[in-house]
Amino acid sequence: MSVRKNIVSSWTQSLSRGQQPDHADLRDHLLIVHRDHPGFTESCAMRCRDKSGRNSYEVLADVVDPARVSRVLDLACGSGALLEICNRRCGPNAELTGVDMSAEELALAEQRGLHPTTKLYEGISQDLNFIVDGSFDVVLCHWALTLMDQVSGVLGEVKRVLKPDGVFAAVVDGDPATAPGYSEIHELIYNVVRREQPRFGEIDLGDPRVRTGQALKQLAAKSFEGAQVDIEPLVFDLHAFPDVLAREAAGFFYASFMLSPPAHCQMLKELEALFAEQRQADRSRFALPVNRLVIRQ
Ligand SMILES: C[S@@+](CC[C@H](N)C(=O)[O-])C[C@H]1O[C@@H](n2cnc3c(N)ncnc32)[C@H](O)[C@@H]1O
Repeated sequence: MSVRKNIVSSWTQSLSRGQQPDHADLRDHLLIVHRDHPGFTESCAMRCRDKSGRNSYEVLADVVDPARVSRVLDLACGSGALLEICNRRCGPNAELTGVDMSAEELALAEQRGLHPTTKLYEGISQDLNFIVDGSFDVVLCHWALTLMDQVSGVLGEVKRVLKPDGVFAAVVDGDPATAPGYSEIHELIYNVVRREQPRFGEIDLGDPRVRTGQALKQLAAKSFEGAQVDIEPLVFDLHAFPDVLAREAAGFFYASFMLSPPAHCQMLKELEALFAEQRQADRSRFALPVNRLVIRQ
C-alpha cells in the first residue's frame, strides 16, 4: 500500500511565506497534485449524477452533435473520461484531440483504448501553438477552467483553434448556495487545512472570475465578441454511506491533498460525522454545484 504524502509545492511555499504565488507556482502545484493522484477527478465526478442520472461528463458532451461535428478538442482532458464518452457518442468518424499538462494524467488516457485516431498532446492551455487556427468544431473543458490563470489568454487560444462557427463549452464550479450542504463541507475541509496552513483560502487556485456565473459571462462575452453566451446552473449528487462519502467528497477538493497524513485522517473523521448527521436511511448526500458554460459563435 502506498503511503500518503501531503503536497508541498512552490505554490504552498509561497502561501506559507505570505507571498502571492505566480503562474509558475500554480503550474508546479497542479503538476505535483496530478502526478501523485492521477485520475482523482474522474473517480468522483463519474459517480456524481443529476436528477436524470447523468454525470457532468455526459451533460457536457451533449453539446457535441454527432451529425454535424467531426473535430473535437478536450482541453485539460486529464485521464480521458470525456474523450471516451465523446468517442462513444460520435463514432469512429470524429477526430478527437486531448491536451493536458500532466504526463501522468495523459498516461491514464492512453491506457483507455481510445479510438486510434485520437490525438493526445502534453501542453498548456495558455499556449496551444501546436494546433493550427480554425481546427475544431467544438472545444470542451471539464472541471479545469477554474484552475487556470491567464484565463483571457486561454479563451483567446480556444477562439483561435475553433472554426468561425465553433462552440466552446465548459463545466466549472457553480454557486455553492445552489447545492445543499456544499458550503459546510468546503468550510470543514478548509478549516482543517488552515490548522496546518493558516493562510490557506486567502488565495485560491486559478482565476476567481471563473467561479461566479456573472463574472464568467462577462469574461466570455469579452473574449468571444458577438457570440451567444449561456450559463446553466446544475447540481450533481453522490449518495453513499457516510464513511465512503467522506473519502469520495474529500477527494474532489484540491485542498485535501495538502494535508499531512494525521490531519487527513482527522478531516475524514469530521466529514464522516457531518455526513452521518445528515443521513437518511443509511445513505448521505454530497451535492456538487456546477455551471455549464456554452459559447456559440
Ligand atoms: C480537475 S482535473 C480535470 C481533468 C479532466 N478534465 C476530468 O474532468 O476528468 C484538471 C486537469 O487540468 C489540467 N490542467 C490544469 N491547468 C492546466 C493548464 N493550464 N493547461 C493544461 N492542463 C491543465 C490538470 O493537469 C488536470 O488534468
